[in-house]
Amino acid sequence: MEKLEMLKINKDCWDVVAPKFFGVESLPEYGPLTVTEDEIKLFDDINHKKVLDIGCGSGHSLKYMADNGAHELWGIDLSSTQIETAKQVLKDYNPRLFCVAMEDHTYLPQDYFDIVYSIYALGWTTDLPTTLKYIYSYLKKDGTFIFSWEHPIYPHVKAENNSIILQGSYQLEEPVMFNSFKGEQLPVILHRRKLETYINSLIEAGFKIERLIEGNASSRFNSEEDAFTEKYYSLYKTRMVPNTFIIKARK
Ligand SMILES: C[S@@+](CC[C@H](N)C(=O)[O-])C[C@H]1O[C@@H](n2cnc3c(N)ncnc32)[C@H](O)[C@@H]1O
Repeated sequence: MEKLEMLKINKDCWDVVAPKFFGVESLPEYGPLTVTEDEIKLFDDINHKKVLDIGCGSGHSLKYMADNGAHELWGIDLSSTQIETAKQVLKDYNPRLFCVAMEDHTYLPQDYFDIVYSIYALGWTTDLPTTLKYIYSYLKKDGTFIFSWEHPIYPHVKAENNSIILQGSYQLEEPVMFNSFKGEQLPVILHRRKLETYINSLIEAGFKIERLIEGNASSRFNSEEDAFTEKYYSLYKTRMVPNTFIIKARK
C-alpha cells in the first residue's frame, strides 16, 4: 500500500479516536505504567528553550514543557481533531500547532529547536528514515531528540492461561493493518519494527545516541501487586519485559 493511502487510513482513524487519548501518554509519563521523566530526568534544562513535539496529540506534553519554562511551543500531528484539542489545552501559551504528518515535508524552521521530542507517536510513521531526516533538520547543532515508543518485543508477548507466550515473529518487519482501534470499527496501520531498526535509523540520520532505556514499571507502582492478568498492559508483563523504550539522542 502506498504511503499516502496508509496516512489517509490512519488520519481517518485518529480523527475519531482522538478524544480517547485526551491527556493520555503525555509527559511526565513516557508510556503506560513505565518510568516517568520525574524518575529518569532525561531532559536537560527546558527553561527558555524552543521545543517541538512530534505527534503532539492533545497538547498535554507541550503544556508540561510550558510549565517547565519552555520559551516557544511548537507541535505537529496528523489528526486535525488532535490539533484542535491541543489549541484549546494550550490557549494561554501561544503555541504554533500544525496538522501535518511527521514523514511529510513541512515549513518548520531548520536548525532552530533546542529540543525535539515525541511521546508514543514516532512509531506511527510510515517512513522512519524520512521522519528522522526531518527531525534532524529541525534541531540546532547539539540539540536533543528524545522519544518514547512501545518496545518492539511487547506486542509479541501475550499473557494467557497463567503463562507468557511468544506470538508472531519479532524478526518480521512490516506494516500491520488492524480492523479496529480503541473500540472503533476503523482500520489503522502500524509498522512493526525491531529495536535495531530504530537505533540504526537514528545513526544513519546523523544522531549520536546518548541513552537507551528499556522501561521498567514506574516506582509509583512499587507497592502494587503484579498478579497474573491477561490484559495487554499489566504490571505482571511489564515487570518481565519492557513495554516502552525511550531514547535520548543528540544532533
Ligand atoms: C498516543 S498519541 C500521542 C500523545 C502525545 N504525544 C502526548 O504527549 O500527549 C499518538 C499521536 O500520534 C499522531 N500520529 C499518528 N500518525 C502520525 C503521523 N504520521 N504524523 C504525525 N502524527 C501522527 C496521532 O494523531 C496521535 O495524536
